[in-house]
Amino acid sequence: MRTFAILSGLVAVCSALPVSSSGCTSELLCDSSTTPLDPRSDVCLAEMCADGSQAAALKRDTSTPSKASVYRDLSNSERLARGIPLKRPVLRKRGTGTGALYPKRSPSPTYTVKGHLLVRNANDGTTLGYASNVSFGNGYYYKPDIADALALSITLDVGSTSGTQLNVAQLNAPNVFPYFGLAQGRDSTSNDISTGSFNYLYFGGTDETPAGSTPQEIDNQAASSLRVARSSESAIWAIDILSGTAVPTWINSDGAAATTQLFTQSNGLYAGGDRDQFAAKYPSPVTPITFTWVSSA
Ligand SMILES: *[C@@H]1O[C@H](CO)[C@@H](O)[C@H](O)[C@H]1NC(C)=O
Repeated sequence: MRTFAILSGLVAVCSALPVSSSGCTSELLCDSSTTPLDPRSDVCLAEMCADGSQAAALKRDTSTPSKASVYRDLSNSERLARGIPLKRPVLRKRGTGTGALYPKRSPSPTYTVKGHLLVRNANDGTTLGYASNVSFGNGYYYKPDIADALALSITLDVGSTSGTQLNVAQLNAPNVFPYFGLAQGRDSTSNDISTGSFNYLYFGGTDETPAGSTPQEIDNQAASSLRVARSSESAIWAIDILSGTAVPTWINSDGAAATTQLFTQSNGLYAGGDRDQFAAKYPSPVTPITFTWVSSA
């Protein structure tokens, strides 16, 4: 198995490095769950036991995640066994030719803008690179070269150069998910981020959630990669194409907008409610970042 071979390689690399007694130093591949691939759960499995410089050296599995949901196809009894929510009953369409049950509002005219997201170090403003289409599995890296940048597009109302709770479409993604959004981190204990909690989110591909939505167990890159239910949100972006301001805001499960800090570890892109708590759990360097929208042709 390819994945197993890669993980074995990582264990070999990690074992050559000093491993702290607490195990994980980097969130990436520091899998604290007991998967069959990880019999040594307190050994560092991070692809970057030290830091991101190893990332480039290690060949990542770039296989395209399957669109098939990790949980949508489960029966309700399987769902119960795994402790995940039951399927919603299927609504049957009434008759035919009776018109839509929920008439759509006539849409206001819109236009589409393409661009990239520049990633800067929030401490000193230096440019680190772009949100990239290079995946570490659960989410994306930033990469210095624009050739690796995730090509994105947003749809704005005619007459407006900014928007909130926008979906950002990904145009050259290595996965089938339509939007660039946020998904629950592997080790997060809930869907919520807050001060005092290490809970965190990956930036990655996701199916759509409505503006203002709470976290939803829909198909997304993290769930597909981890093969467990992970909640995500797509309509998280406030973007101004003139100033370049690009700010994602996660909505917690109570419907409240969470303070959403952005950071990178081992060149992976993360968000969370408390960067310091994340850094306490995964001690590899954590750098606060900002995104800047850069329009492209
Ligand atoms: C990333 O984007 C580049 C440029 O659009 C494309 O050539 C490349 O195939 C993409 N990589 C993946 C892994 O999809």
